[in-house]
Amino acid sequence: MLIDTHAHLFAPQFKEDTEEMVKRAQEAGVKWVVLPNIDSSSIEPMFQLHQKYPDFAYPTMGLHPCSAGGDNQRTLSEMEQYLDDARLIAIGETGIDLYWDKTTLENQLQSFRRHISWAKETQLPINIHSRDALEITIDEISRAQDGNLSGVFHCFTGSPEEVKKIRDLGFMMGIGGVVTFKNGGLDKVLKLVGLENMVLETDAPYLAPAPHRGKRNESAFVKIIAEKSAEILGESFVHIKDKTGENALKVFKK
Ligand code: NI
Repeated sequence: MLIDTHAHLFAPQFKEDTEEMVKRAQEAGVKWVVLPNIDSSSIEPMFQLHQKYPDFAYPTMGLHPCSAGGDNQRTLSEMEQYLDDARLIAIGETGIDLYWDKTTLENQLQSFRRHISWAKETQLPINIHSRDALEITIDEISRAQDGNLSGVFHCFTGSPEEVKKIRDLGFMMGIGGVVTFKNGGLDKVLKLVGLENMVLETDAPYLAPAPHRGKRNESAFVKIIAEKSAEILGESFVHIKDKTGENALKVFKK
């Protein structure tokens, strides 16, 4: 089955046509999606979407690294209140982003480490964002991995060495729209990632796959990502869909 393991479907970009957008996803074969939280303002719309589609859209709890640059103690404490909420399927989105702002690394790290301890406490998988910071991110997970951490390096684009490290850590790699980009580079490492270590995602509303690149992304497009992955790996679409679906079930314990 097709699972979108990373989609911000509660974002304002979907406000006008949520129902049609969800319908298109379901018609494309998407069984369920993971909704990675962004900041305190997205908590309510995220839970509302889950309430509307309880068997389709599953919430998570976390502070996006791009929103974690300032003094985030209050926000993190607020999020901590939700940790025993049975609706949550994962911790995140968290991680490190040095593409947009390198000066906030310390605050981002502090936030990331707190999310790691939440993941251990709740036994939930962790949804990791890493941009221009894969080495630091992998390092943090390596140090914390005591057998109780699992999760996904979302929107993965890395080197063969990084693929190996992430596999050794027992984490999955989230394959998204980049796989359809010319010069995206993912085609070269996808075989190494291996079908047993990958899940599919859109990162909607961002990062739409070709031929929709630059436009609003949505969960239905995870089918395009599966098709492109099948082409690169020389496997059938059905096989890709089934294996990545099984992986998603395994990591998100559904
Ligand atoms: Ni995201």
